[in-house]
Amino acid sequence: MSRAVDLRSDTVTQPTAAMREAMAGAVVGDDGYGEDPTVAALEARFATLTGKEAALFVPSGVMGNQIALRVLCAPGDVVVCGAHQHVIGFEMGAAARNAGVQFWTVDDSAGLVDLEAVDEALAAEADHQVAVRAIAVENTHMYAGGVPWSSADLAELAARAGPRPLHLDGARLFNAVVATGESAAALCAPATTVMACLSKGLCAPVGSLLAGPRELMERARIERKRFGGALRQAGFLAAAGLVALDTMVERLAEDHRRARRLAEAFAEALPEAGYDPATCRTNIVSFDHPEARRIVAELAAAGVLGGTVGPRRARFVTHHDVDDDGLERAVAAVARLRV
Ligand SMILES: Cc1ncc(COP(=O)(O)O)c(C=O)c1O
Repeated sequence: MSRAVDLRSDTVTQPTAAMREAMAGAVVGDDGYGEDPTVAALEARFATLTGKEAALFVPSGVMGNQIALRVLCAPGDVVVCGAHQHVIGFEMGAAARNAGVQFWTVDDSAGLVDLEAVDEALAAEADHQVAVRAIAVENTHMYAGGVPWSSADLAELAARAGPRPLHLDGARLFNAVVATGESAAALCAPATTVMACLSKGLCAPVGSLLAGPRELMERARIERKRFGGALRQAGFLAAAGLVALDTMVERLAEDHRRARRLAEAFAEALPEAGYDPATCRTNIVSFDHPEARRIVAELAAAGVLGGTVGPRRARFVTHHDVDDDGLERAVAAVARLRV
């Protein structure tokens, strides 16, 4: 049987030949002493791209989010957040353990947060309730199906937040860049801090970046050390990250095109799901179905791997290592579903 079409996540992507070459030749130093020129170059490049004063290379997206909460909040603070965001549901309760924050969740089932619910959370202070310290958003919104936020939507949220900082979980920020046609700097302008992953659709083997005001990033460097995330000759990883930022962004459009084709196949095969394929604007096909687990199991038996992100929510993610042939095999398997 031919190799499985692996649509479980864009994190399964392999580093490209150009990345392997850049890693082999990377000039490195001890980043614990601030002496790795390749890490410094990657951090500077990301800060420029996002229009922030400084950036920090971190081992993972989770660590980037967690450090952001530590530098923006104090224990007991409340963070307003979409109910399905990664920082709430998929980080093993880390925010409670590491930053001691409490989330006030608002509806985000369509990807963007309900602004009226945000207003209510912010106003609750006048009714003897806890004051909101910060807001966290996700662009693209993974659970909702990779929904991209525009800078106008983010600016509207930031305006409502007033002086409160906005943390942007941009694990797939560059998918949003490609889908909206806006620059990373424009999408990050309303946010105080932004995290983006290099190791998802951009294919780098390891690493994420956190950017923001210089003073906050200096504190973030200390928090990274506390998490055990200060690395030594990390330039080997940063070298792949630079190739990712320089060469792997525009091609995300191909992943988006394939995801839409797959979304249409699911919508046709499973009309009872009421899934609108037009909501699939980046690389994530995600929909509710009472038999989501069976659908995933049946497709796996046919050599097409996906997953569930909720008891009734199926998810399939396109990426660099699934080409048109693989995608067509997935589409054919979806058409044969017998759920
Ligand atoms: C939206 C979002 N944020 C954060 C992360 C965490 O990234 P990492 O797996 O690198 O820790 C993920 C990972 O899938 C994600 O989808």
